Amino acid sequence: MLERIYMFSLKYLKDNNILEDIFDTINDGVNVVNNQGRVIYCNKRSAEYADVKPEDMIGKKVTDFYPDAILLQVLEDGKPTLDKKIHYVGNKKYIVSAYPFVVNGEIEGAYSVFRDIREIDILNRKIQALQLHLSLSDTEEEISSLIGVEDSLTKVLQDAKRTIGSIGGPRHSIIIGDSGTGKTMLAKLIYNYGREVGTLDSKAPFIEVNCAQFTNSDIAALEIFGSEEGSFTGSIQKKGLLERANGGILFLDEAHELGNYQSILLTAIETGRFRRIGGNKEISVDVIIIAASTKNLKNELLPELYQRLAQYELYLPPLNERSEKEKTDLFYYFLNKYEEAVKKYQDIDYQVSFTEEAKRLILSGNYPRNIRQFRDVINYSIDQASPLIADLKNKKEIKVKVRTNHLPFEISNEKSEDNMYELILNFRNSGMGPRKISKELEKYGYKFEYYKVAYYLKKLEDK
Ligand SMILES: Nc1ncnc2c1ncn2[C@@H]1O[C@H](COP(=O)(O)OP(=O)(O)OP(=O)(O)O)[C@@H](O)[C@H]1O
Ligand SMILES: [Mg+2]
Repeated sequence: MLERIYMFSLKYLKDNNILEDIFDTINDGVNVVNNQGRVIYCNKRSAEYADVKPEDMIGKKVTDFYPDAILLQVLEDGKPTLDKKIHYVGNKKYIVSAYPFVVNGEIEGAYSVFRDIREIDILNRKIQALQLHLSLSDTEEEISSLIGVEDSLTKVLQDAKRTIGSIGGPRHSIIIGDSGTGKTMLAKLIYNYGREVGTLDSKAPFIEVNCAQFTNSDIAALEIFGSEEGSFTGSIQKKGLLERANGGILFLDEAHELGNYQSILLTAIETGRFRRIGGNKEISVDVIIIAASTKNLKNELLPELYQRLAQYELYLPPLNERSEKEKTDLFYYFLNKYEEAVKKYQDIDYQVSFTEEAKRLILSGNYPRNIRQFRDVINYSIDQASPLIADLKNKKEIKVKVRTNHLPFEISNEKSEDNMYELILNFRNSGMGPRKISKELEKYGYKFEYYKVAYYLKKLEDK
């Protein structure tokens, strides 16, 4: 045993070139240079990075293979360099640590350990890009920073504050609005406001559930009200979302999908108690319910439940009912959000502008899915006008101009034709003839010959 330990010593490893074998199995590159900067040792990985064989590197200047080798600097100033990122030729990027060999106060050489971080780098960039895109749909945390506070949303936001912040105590409410008008956003704002004014505890839960996401109302009810073990085949004891929301808010989107189970909700609201599905035990809960729907809940909910919830009915108007100023504010709001996200996640001073025509088309577009779609169209158009991540090349400032060709098809084409006809009518009403109209249209980017204008106007008169 003793002999074995003796045999298997560091000296043994050195004498039998085992150390080199070990160095060749590690994933990092290793270079050792003499004080002239010539390679006296490199491992396999280093040679692989440089696309040569290890023996090709020995005796040569390290800079022949690694042009910006940090080793030279270490030789010069005798200080180690840790975790420095450097770019070599092409897109190779390494993270390097390098150390000097000092013998009797003299720098005799240096060695470096390094790793190609291109893939990590690419992954990092992808994550940043993902974070950036996710952040574009972040909602505001405070009511006061919303667009429309002093316009279409004044009343509804005042009421929203009252639901949770009135002296008489917080109340349940209903939010009605078409898809993408901001219902989920409003529910979260109510929650934030409640915590701000103290009607909700700072740790109060906010539980959101879309009742339409379940295949049927039985499954929805199990999720929301929970179940007791053995209440039906295979059932387990499970807390529902209503209990999880205790002390806070349960946001029930498309609440009418609860079907007959609405009655459990009604009991919970009226008595502060309910039973899990299949359970006998009464459970107490103190929860504020916010129910939302794209439908008119008056016709969809049990009348008693509707009455209980609709003490406050908060209506969010669709985008086309909002003023021009508000739409323009929303436009710049989403544009700024994009710029800020690029600043935050890519550290680039990003300046986005739209040509007059592109802006006009976006503002006059038709958005059945409302603010969400409006936001997506703006983000898409900026994406289209933006450079690819791979082309950023460490730029610190980028100016982007969004033009009509960057807009999604449904906005730039279909809609612009509608707008053209609208323009023709406007021009005719101000007394212009077909030739003049055709010329005017050109200024707006439309090529529509005068005889086509004349034909269109004639067709209108014939109707
Ligand atoms: N007044 C506003 N100011 C700023 N952003 C807004 C405003 N209204 C809505 N938004 C944004 O519009 C997007 C859509 O809002 P939200 O998801 O709340 O709509 P929704 O009515 O819940 O839609 P759905 O019916 O599909 O559930 C969100 O990114 C939200 O931040
Ligand atoms: Mg929603």
